[in-house]
Amino acid sequence: MTEDVSRRDFVKMAGVAVGGLAIGAVGGYSLMPPKETIIEKEVEVPQEVPEHPWQYAKLDVEKVKERAYNAYFVGGCSYGAFEGIVGELQEKVGHPYTSIPTKISVYGKGGTVGFGTLCGALNGASMAMNLVSNDLSMVTEVVGEYTETGYPTWKPAVTKKTDADLPTSVSGSPLCHVSVTKWCEASGFESGSDERKERCGRLTGEVAGRAAEILNAMADGTFAAAFVNPESVTGCNGCHGDDGAIANVHAKSECLQCHGDPHTD
Ligand code: HEC
Ligand code: HEC
Repeated sequence: MTEDVSRRDFVKMAGVAVGGLAIGAVGGYSLMPPKETIIEKEVEVPQEVPEHPWQYAKLDVEKVKERAYNAYFVGGCSYGAFEGIVGELQEKVGHPYTSIPTKISVYGKGGTVGFGTLCGALNGASMAMNLVSNDLSMVTEVVGEYTETGYPTWKPAVTKKTDADLPTSVSGSPLCHVSVTKWCEASGFESGSDERKERCGRLTGEVAGRAAEILNAMADGTFAAAFVNPESVTGCNGCHGDDGAIANVHAKSECLQCHGDPHTD
C-alpha cells in the first residue's frame, strides 16, 4: 500500500520513440504507437518537506480503527496505530505523508521489542499525533485515558483470530507488561493465545481511533484536555517530584501500583 501510494510523488513521463504512428497488423490505422516504442521514465520531482508540524486533515475514525487493527497483524501494535493514522493521511493527503515509511514504527511492539514498557499502540499513536501537532497535552490525554479505560470494547468488521466478545480489563498503567498481564488475569487467557493477540489488535484499533478523534477535535478547535493525574501522583510528587523537597522522581504513572505507600504500609 505504502509503495503504491508513494508513486504518486513521481511523475511518469511517457516518451514516444521516433515513428509515432504505426500501422496495425491486419490493416487499418492505430493511433497508439506499438507498445515497445513507449519508454516509461520515472522522474523524481523534488517536493519541499514542510516545517513540523504537518498540516492535518480530519480522518474517518472508523477507517483508522480498521486500518490500525489490520496493520497490527502485519507489524504489531506500534506499527498498527502509526499506520492506522499516517496511512490514512497518506491516502487522503498524499505528500508529505507519503514520504514516511510507516514501518519505522515497528520497533515499538510489545512495549518496545518485547520489553513490556510503553504500550506500542500508545507509542505509535503518540508519534502520529506529534507529527501533526506540538500540543503534547493530546498525547497526555490518550496515554492517561488508556490507563483508566477497560479494553477491548470495540470489534472490527472482520476479526482475525476470534470473533468472540472478549473480557475487558483496566490497566492502571501505560506499560505493555502491566496491561497485557492484567488482561490475562482478568480473562484467563494466556499471553501467547490467539485471544490475547486479538485483544491487542482491537486495543490498537481503539487507541488509534481515539487519537484520530482527538486530532479531529483539534482540527475543529474543540479539543479540551480532561485527564487528571491520579491523587497518588500529585501527593507523592509533592515531595518526590521535580519541584519537591526530595526531587528524585521524574514520572507521573500511578505510584501506588508499584510501591504501595511506603510511608504508611
Ligand atoms: C511529605 C513528603 C513525602 C511524601 C508526600 C511522600 N514521600 Fe516518599 N519519602 C519521603 C522522604 C523524606 C523519604 C526518605 C528519603 C531519603 O531517605 O532519601 C521518602 C522515601 C520514599 C521511598 C524510599 C524509601 C522506602 O521506604 O523504600 C519511596 C519508595 C517513597 N518515598 C515513595 C513514596 C510514595 C509512593 C509516595 C506517595 C504515596 C510518597 N513517597 C510520598 C517524603 C515523602
Ligand atoms: C512501574 C512501576 C513503578 C511506578 C509506577 C513508580 N515507581 Fe517508583 N520505583 C520503581 C522501581 C522499580 C524503583 C527502583 C527500585 C526501588 O528502589 O524500589 C523505584 C524507585 C523509587 C524511589 C526510590 C526508592 C529508594 O529506595 O530510594 C522513589 C522515591 C519512588 N520510586 C517513588 C515513586 C513515585 C513518587 C511514583 C509515582 C509518581 C513512582 N515511584 C512510580 C517502580 C515504580
